[in-house]
Amino acid sequence: MNILITGTRTGVGKYLAEHFLESGHQVIGCSRRPSSIEHPKYHHHQIDLSEISQVKRMFREVRHEHGYLDALINNAGTSTMNHFMTTPDETARRIFDLNFFGVLNSCREAVKLLRKSREPSTAILNISTVAVPWALEGHLVYTASKRAVEQLVWVMSKELAGFDIRVNALGLPPVRTVLTRTVSQSKIDALVERQAIRRMCTMPDILGPVEFLIGRQSAFVTGETVMLGGVR
Ligand SMILES: NC(=O)c1ccc[n+]([C@@H]2O[C@H](COP(=O)([O-])OP(=O)(O)OC[C@H]3O[C@@H](n4cnc5c(N)ncnc54)[C@H](OP(=O)(O)O)[C@@H]3O)[C@@H](O)[C@H]2O)c1
Repeated sequence: MNILITGTRTGVGKYLAEHFLESGHQVIGCSRRPSSIEHPKYHHHQIDLSEISQVKRMFREVRHEHGYLDALINNAGTSTMNHFMTTPDETARRIFDLNFFGVLNSCREAVKLLRKSREPSTAILNISTVAVPWALEGHLVYTASKRAVEQLVWVMSKELAGFDIRVNALGLPPVRTVLTRTVSQSKIDALVERQAIRRMCTMPDILGPVEFLIGRQSAFVTGETVMLGGVR
């Protein structure tokens, strides 16, 4: 499969990219800073997903180099932990520019390449967060941007079903990555206690649902947001 994963320099995106490369797939990744992955089947684009011109450039290059895509995983995301009263307008817009508009623009460009796939059904998977159903204090803008992505999933799944493109989201509980490096262990522990499965989410916990949601086994699944760890 040709799989494009955004935000592959660190964290969840890097883990997924390395796994799919080991499984023999072609992986296209991106981040603002240079690649941290060296593999003959990996191609990195150094771009800022908040900039539509850079998103368009990446997909244009993917079309020239690979011709088609079988799956898009919108993984890159950012957050800040702030009371909304102390979240500057500039920060709020920066979060939406990546977490919502970066996803929307990537989807628009990817559809043109997903339609060229030889797979009977192709997939867009968006990474969301359990902070949405938890309505987590200190994360107003972050959760609003991810809620907007879940709305995108509902509408886009209907608009793309006729093209055999499925659109789903996967909501992650806390995982130790660069994104959560400043969150104290006691805060993480308190969040894990709110999950039905009261242990920290690991990368392999994420992998299974990702493989399912972009693979043939989920050919009849679209418009869904799956929350990991037993969170509602
Ligand atoms: N970690 C958690 O506990 C957790 C929980 C729930 C949901 N999530 C979600 O999971 C996803 C991955 O998070 P993570 O924890 O793996 O984060 P991470 O380690 O901070 O990785 C984010 C990746 O995105 C790239 N990126 C950031 N801004 C970008 C931009 N403007 N343009 C292009 N690339 C950009 C980063 O590389 P550069 O810095 O080089 O750009 C990096 O590769 C996010 O959508 C996040 O909201 C994470």
